[in-house]
Amino acid sequence: MKITALFLLILLFNTSFAQNNSTTNYNEPYRPQFHFTPESKWMNDPNGLIYFNGKYHLFYQYFPDGIIWGPMHWGHAVSTDLLQWKQLPIALYPDKLGWIFSGSAVIDTTNSAGFGKNAMIAIFTYHNDEIVKSGKKNCESQGIAYSLDEGLTWTKYKENPVLNNSGEQDFRDPKVFWNAAINKWNMVLAVGDKSKIWSSTNLKQWQFESDFKPTNDLELGVWECPDLFSMKTNSGETKWIMIVNHGDKAPNGGSGTRYFVGDFDGKTFKESQKSIWMDNGTDFYAAVTFSNVPDNKRILLGWMSNWQYATKVPTEVWRSAMTMPRELSLAKDKKGYYLNQKLVSQFSTLIKPVFEQANVVTPFEKVNLDLSQTEVTFDLDKTTNFILSLSNSKGEVYTITLSENKLITDRRNSGNINFSETFAPNSQVMNLNDKISSFKLVLDKSSAEILLNDGKYSMTNLFFPTKDFSILNIVSKDNSPITNLKINSISRVWK
Ligand code: FRU
Repeated sequence: MKITALFLLILLFNTSFAQNNSTTNYNEPYRPQFHFTPESKWMNDPNGLIYFNGKYHLFYQYFPDGIIWGPMHWGHAVSTDLLQWKQLPIALYPDKLGWIFSGSAVIDTTNSAGFGKNAMIAIFTYHNDEIVKSGKKNCESQGIAYSLDEGLTWTKYKENPVLNNSGEQDFRDPKVFWNAAINKWNMVLAVGDKSKIWSSTNLKQWQFESDFKPTNDLELGVWECPDLFSMKTNSGETKWIMIVNHGDKAPNGGSGTRYFVGDFDGKTFKESQKSIWMDNGTDFYAAVTFSNVPDNKRILLGWMSNWQYATKVPTEVWRSAMTMPRELSLAKDKKGYYLNQKLVSQFSTLIKPVFEQANVVTPFEKVNLDLSQTEVTFDLDKTTNFILSLSNSKGEVYTITLSENKLITDRRNSGNINFSETFAPNSQVMNLNDKISSFKLVLDKSSAEILLNDGKYSMTNLFFPTKDFSILNIVSKDNSPITNLKINSISRVWK
């Protein structure tokens, strides 16, 4: 009798904790093979990105009851290398104060909040739909929750919310970090069309410090998912980066991420130059960085979709993937500061050479390739123009064009585009300030991430061909060669 009860307990534990009852083999059409996707159902923003005790924690906006956005939870996955992810039970569920919107996580090494030394503390937005329905504006406030077992189980603070709203409609997405220079926590929050900064000694009482809204800034509506962190340039200068996200009005339509480079003294952020778009494709949003990564690394993760059509993309078991994790570095040239984005170095463990050629005369064509999990890289010593296309035997095609000072992607004939009028109305354009010398393209079933000049420029796109792309074509306008062409296959990470 006792043994049966024990057996039942073990069974229960296993199914809820390890998701042994998996209903998917991660092989559905369009399912990314080396990007993070939830096992099933709806996902949007990455949340609570943090490294702790040898593991990267990825929490994410999650609706476990549908493949469209709904009452938000925090899903949870962990990884030791940012490539292979283990899904864990849902971390945070809605409660009477509201749904659990985006936010961040910290490790409380000094027990400043009193929940325990090294408690993992999540700081998130409560979104109260009842208040929305009542027509009042103060529907969003900030709450905290703690975990003493590396994020497996969570307790919400009983005196939530810790930061109330004085009547702002959009008041959300706290990013909290320890600021050693002032010996306090800082919080940056998106509030209407600006961000606001607070400080605290215990994560429970917050002191307002300042607003950040640059003069003559672009009018891009509501701000969301801010981030704030310092970085050093390679000449040793320290600058602060403020990331802000905009659900609408990005350069190629809909959602997009931009960043400011400036200075921060624990109270006020002052931009040194105009903002820069982090990625000019339509499928890069809500991007924020991991906290506490060893060696001071800054690793960025975005949601690979766009609010214009995210709820309509043609997948059924799950919806949405994250981008590849990208390591940031800060550089400066005569036009100012900028970030480079490189795929994390461990990505190289997934790649296997398929084809390599030092000098390639164009037009270049290779057929019968598996372009569904593939990396294509080359250098451009002499060429300033090319058209690269991926296509299949059905005539579906996705093109990438480098033309003078522009990078243009086109998915208008890439297959299944009719699920939303906003998906492929036009080609997508990014203006470039430099001569392009290196090209990298990473393809994973239904996504392309393009990085130029070691990640100074980036463009991310989704596409949904009805058959995998298998033909690679590169034509340079003046027929000048491209160099060091490499085509690599990329292994699947799901076991
Ligand atoms: C950004 C966002 C956040 C919000 C969350 C809700 O995509 O709108 O501002 O917290 O999604 O799911």
